[in-house]
Amino acid sequence: RLLIIDFGSQVTQLIARRLRELNVYCEIHPFNRVDEAFLKAFAPQAVIFSGGPASVYAEGAPMPPAGVFDLGVPILGICYGQQVMMHCLGGKVEGGHGTAEFGRAFVTPTAAQLSILDGWFAEGDEQVWMSHGDHVSKLAPGFEVYGTSPNAPFAITADVARNFYAVQFHPEVHHTPKGAKLYENFVRLAGFTGDWTMAGYREQAIAAIREQVGDKQVICALSGGVDSSVTAILIHEAIGSQLTCVFVDHGLLRKNEAEQVVAMFRENYNLNLIHADESALFLGALEGVSDPEVKRKTIGRLFIDVFQKYANQIEGAEFLAQGTLYPDVIESVSFSGGPSVTIKSHHNVGGLPEKMGLKLVEPLRELFKDEVRALGRELGLPASFIGRHPFPGPGLAIRCPGEITAEKLAILREADAVYIDQIRKHGLYDQIWQAFAAILPMKTVGVMGDGRTYDYAVALRAVTSVDGMTADVFPFSHDFMGETMTRIINEVKGVNRVFYDLTSKPPGTIELE
Ligand code: XMP
Repeated sequence: RLLIIDFGSQVTQLIARRLRELNVYCEIHPFNRVDEAFLKAFAPQAVIFSGGPASVYAEGAPMPPAGVFDLGVPILGICYGQQVMMHCLGGKVEGGHGTAEFGRAFVTPTAAQLSILDGWFAEGDEQVWMSHGDHVSKLAPGFEVYGTSPNAPFAITADVARNFYAVQFHPEVHHTPKGAKLYENFVRLAGFTGDWTMAGYREQAIAAIREQVGDKQVICALSGGVDSSVTAILIHEAIGSQLTCVFVDHGLLRKNEAEQVVAMFRENYNLNLIHADESALFLGALEGVSDPEVKRKTIGRLFIDVFQKYANQIEGAEFLAQGTLYPDVIESVSFSGGPSVTIKSHHNVGGLPEKMGLKLVEPLRELFKDEVRALGRELGLPASFIGRHPFPGPGLAIRCPGEITAEKLAILREADAVYIDQIRKHGLYDQIWQAFAAILPMKTVGVMGDGRTYDYAVALRAVTSVDGMTADVFPFSHDFMGETMTRIINEVKGVNRVFYDLTSKPPGTIELE
C-alpha cells in the first residue's frame, strides 16, 4: 500500500482518487500524525508528499517524519512536497519576487528520459497546473532537472538513484492532462500491479464483518440512498438474518419512494426490514414550524427517537451499521483551527451509538463515493439505485420553505416526479449531481383557459458538483425548460408558475433550507 502524507493541500484527496483509479490502495495521513513508529507499522511500498499552503522556511513549517528518506521506497513530492523534500535533503527554497505561479503553465523537457514521464512530451511541451508562491532555487545533491516552466526552473526533478521524484505542479488535477499518466508510471515503478479491485474488497469486507460481529445482531438505518443501501447489502451478505434494517418513513419522501425502497430490499435481498411508517408523528411535530433550523432539529430528534424505539425491539442488538465514507474519516490538516460556522444542522445519527451502547460497523470507511457505487454494482444493486441523486435526511421538509402542509407536500411530490421524468426522458439525469423541485411559500395570480388562477409557484433546481461543497447551475436548453414548465402546469393541480433557480453554491446552498 501507498502512504500519502498530507501537508494541507486543498486537493490531497484527489491524489488518493487518482491512485484508486489505478487500483492501488492508499491512505492519507496528516504530516503531524506520522512518525517513525507509524512508518514502520504502515510499511508503505511508496510515499507521496502532498502540496500545502506553508513555506518551508517559516517557523514551525510542516516537515515529513524522520526516517522517511531512509525507507528505501520511491517518494514523489508535489508542490510543497517538492519544496520540503529539497529543504530536507540539502536544496534551497525561496519565495517572493514574481515567481509565484497560479494556473496553467507549460513544461519543456530538459535532460534525458525519466521513467515517470513515459508518455509525456510526445507532442512537445505539456500543460500542467501550477499553484505556488515559493519555488525551489537550488536542487538537493543527487537531483537533476527533467522539465522547466517559465516560472519554475525546477518543474520536474528527480534523484533517480534513490527513486525520489519531485514536481512543482499538481499532477492530480484535471488541468494537468497527463497527470494520471505520471501517477501510473510512478506506481508501476514502485511495483504496484493494480490488483486492488472491488471484487477483492467485497471478499475482504465480508470476512472483516463476520470477524467483528460474530454471532451478534446488527441494526442499520436504511434510507434507500446508495451509501446505506450498499452497507446493508454487504452486511446482509456477510451475516444474513443477523442484520435488521429500519427504514424510517418520516412522511417527507418523494412520490412512491417508500414503496420502491421497501420492495427492492424485500424482493431482491430477502432482508429483515422494518418499515417504520411514522409520518403522522413527524408531520404532527412539524405543524406550524417554518424556521429551517427548528425543522431540521425536530426531524433529527424524532428520527433518533423512532430509530431507537424500533431498535429496542431487536433482541440482543450490539452493533449499529453506518455508511460512513472515507472522506468523512480522513483527518484534515488544520492550520487556522477554530470551528467553522454552522450553515445547516445536518441530519445524522451521530451520538446514537453511545446513547444506546452500540458498537459501530462501518464497512465503507475506506471507500470514496464512486467506489461505493462500484461496490454496489458488484453486489447487484439495481442501476436505478446506484446512480441516484443525493437526497437529504430531512427530505422534502427543506424543499418546502415556510410551513409544511399536506397540500404543499402533495403538490411538491407531483411536480418533482414530472421534473425528474423530464430529465430522464431527455437523457440528462446522469449529467446532473442533483435535481429537484421545491414549492415556494406563496401563491401568485395566473390565467388558464379564460379563468383566473391563484396557485402555488414551484422552483426547479439542478446543479452539477463534485462533492456537494460547491455547485454550478445546470444549463438546460430553453426548449427543455419550456416543455417542463408546460408539463408541470398541465399535470400538477395547484401550480400556476414555475421558476428555475439560477443560484450557484456559493452564494446559495443546494437545498433551499
Ligand atoms: P446544501 O444544501 O448544504 O447541501 O448545499 C449539500 C448537499 O448535502 C445534502 N444535504 C443533506 N444531506 N442530511 C443529509 O444527509 C442533511 O441534513 C442534508 N442537508 C443537505 C444536499 O441534498 C446536498 O446534496
